[in-house]
Amino acid sequence: MTATDPLDETARAMVAPRKGILAIDETTPTCTKRFVEHGIESTEETRRAYREMLVTAPGAADYVSGAILFDETIRQKTSDGRTFAESLRARGIIPGVKVDKGTRPLEAADGETVTVGLDGLRARLKEYRGMGARFTKWRAIFRIGAGLPSPQAIDANAEALGEYAALAQGAGLVPIVEPEVLTDGDHDTKRCSEATEAVLMAVFAGLAARGCRLEAMVLKPNMVTPGAQSRGQPDPTEVADRTIEVLRRCVPEAVPGVAFLSGGQTGAEACVNLNAMTSRGPFSWELSFSFGRALQYPALEIWDGKALNIPAAQAAVIHRARMSSLARSGAYTVEADRVPE
Ligand code: 13P
Repeated sequence: MTATDPLDETARAMVAPRKGILAIDETTPTCTKRFVEHGIESTEETRRAYREMLVTAPGAADYVSGAILFDETIRQKTSDGRTFAESLRARGIIPGVKVDKGTRPLEAADGETVTVGLDGLRARLKEYRGMGARFTKWRAIFRIGAGLPSPQAIDANAEALGEYAALAQGAGLVPIVEPEVLTDGDHDTKRCSEATEAVLMAVFAGLAARGCRLEAMVLKPNMVTPGAQSRGQPDPTEVADRTIEVLRRCVPEAVPGVAFLSGGQTGAEACVNLNAMTSRGPFSWELSFSFGRALQYPALEIWDGKALNIPAAQAAVIHRARMSSLARSGAYTVEADRVPE
């Protein structure tokens, strides 16, 4: 028997059966935008209270393996005086943190970007680990358009993802590697499939170039869907077939798990699509979820910034987490989703 690397164990725990990762790592501007859309004031305290409501939802650990925090949140405390990381660990949920610092435009590029944050990253990783984080996230974004994503954008982001992942592992943290092909546009599913495949091929080359240990990472990709402005409803069978085809081509067996982002899909849409994928198995990796919006809505509207709404909002986030859990075992049904908790 060989000794198991603790990072490999953490990565496997992040994609453990029946559970997924709760993404609540919106930057302050993004969180503020979502609050404003619902008429909720965005302050350090309202953002803290909202995140506390989500992570302390009773029974969350039955469906949630880990939670991705934003820098502001990992420095905050829950009402019982514990830090968010302590509070999560006490509940059996692994704390993680987003470590990229957003994007900057690429020169001469058609609205394309590269994700930044490598400067000083080693020191920040050390600090986050000291605060209790056990994994990290870095998100790169890619646009589909005429000639996009460009080889330049793909290479620049793949290189940065490789460097980030190697640094995270060096600091004792499991990297979530998130290359997101955005849904903006009227492209069809085939176009998304080609772009996603090109991106994932380059990302795994970038990870190999930096010596990233595949057993100690989690891939967080987009599902392969038609563009958000394309006509007609996405067909879950096609989404599942195309997504699995791309993953089988690009994701090495050593990777313990693939945890999808929801990318603007409703909770039900994301569940239907994930559920459809499970029947294409078995796979060498776990197929899981790391949803943001698809878990947080409608809990955000229900909460509405008011303490008295916390129990109902928590029931809503648990419902979405339970539905997502069912979807990853192929047991999700639209009927089950209608039944109030
Ligand atoms: P969505 O599921 O809302 O796309 O968010 C996931 C995420 O972490 C984006 O970086």
